[in-house]
Amino acid sequence: MILSIESSCDDSSIAVTEIKTKKLLFHKKISQEIDHSKYGGVVPELAARLHAEALPFILKQAKEFFPYIKAIGVTTKPGLSVTLTEGVVMAKALCMTLKVPLIGVNHLHGHIYSLFIQKESLFPMTILLVSGGHTQVFDAKGFDDFRVLAKTMDDSFGESFDKVSKMLSLGYPGGPIVEKYAKNGDEKRFNFTVALLHSPKIAFSYSGLKNQVRLQINELKDLSEQDRSDICASFQRVACAHLLHKIEKIFKSSHIKDFAIVGGASANLYLRDKTQKLCDKYGAKLHLAPMEYCADNAAMIGRIAIEAYKRGRFSKCLDIDANPKVN
Ligand code: KG4
Ligand code: ZN
Repeated sequence: MILSIESSCDDSSIAVTEIKTKKLLFHKKISQEIDHSKYGGVVPELAARLHAEALPFILKQAKEFFPYIKAIGVTTKPGLSVTLTEGVVMAKALCMTLKVPLIGVNHLHGHIYSLFIQKESLFPMTILLVSGGHTQVFDAKGFDDFRVLAKTMDDSFGESFDKVSKMLSLGYPGGPIVEKYAKNGDEKRFNFTVALLHSPKIAFSYSGLKNQVRLQINELKDLSEQDRSDICASFQRVACAHLLHKIEKIFKSSHIKDFAIVGGASANLYLRDKTQKLCDKYGAKLHLAPMEYCADNAAMIGRIAIEAYKRGRFSKCLDIDANPKVN
């Protein structure tokens, strides 16, 4: 079995996965959303302190598996350096105590493997990752063969939902809240512009849209509930239209049979529906992770760690450290 740890942002999670069958034997997660919501975003030092309490608390519950653990998988990058460190330190201590090897995992690649929890992997696939920190399209050919086809030039898709929610004083994390408000809103009321519409560039940008929402909020001054819903709906329509416009360019330039969306924001039903329609248009199959594995979790870290284990890709305890950057 592999014991995996995730602490790259505001979720403390530990999983135990059987190597041979890929079966998830244990999976617990403690989210810090409520703790950060009053600040309108994640406070890194508070997050680290909460991980330091939550991770040992969860680990105790996984004790019965210790004799069967063959390796420890842990997210080492990218993320908040102070929170990554909590997981990495625990992973190193476990490796030394249980005398098993360490597997450092790239969190973004972990999200890709959220598609394959408790099942076989499927490659090649074109994969859109939409999370709080990243917006990228990967050409995924196999384990450790992920080429970035497009990425954001500024903010990420998920983060723009968080910011819009904050500007409307609706709470954190913004994604599910904005999506909920959008359901009761008129998505055509505000004509926000789709970023990079006339640019041949295959890249994403969300800073301009965020600014347009801010200006609109200032103009309306006293917002009614309907105003809030209409802003959320109009914002969500344009945020997704931008993603899909650029993804369609990728569909046009290469034959894609299998397409997937992963990451916390892949839980967005409006985005799922629009992407399904795009896939139908181009005869591609859309793959999605189950809702419970879209947001950060240790099950996806364990699933990719199995692949590393099978290939003997271990990290040296002393070489590995938390790294906030992707590379
Ligand atoms: O993957 P994730 O759990 O953490 C990171 O790796 O960043 O993604 C969290 C992000 C947050 O920005 C959150 O607002 C966004 O995913 N999110 C959503 C939805 N659910 C979560 N964004 C849009 N619609 C949603 N339903
Ligand atoms: Zn994530």
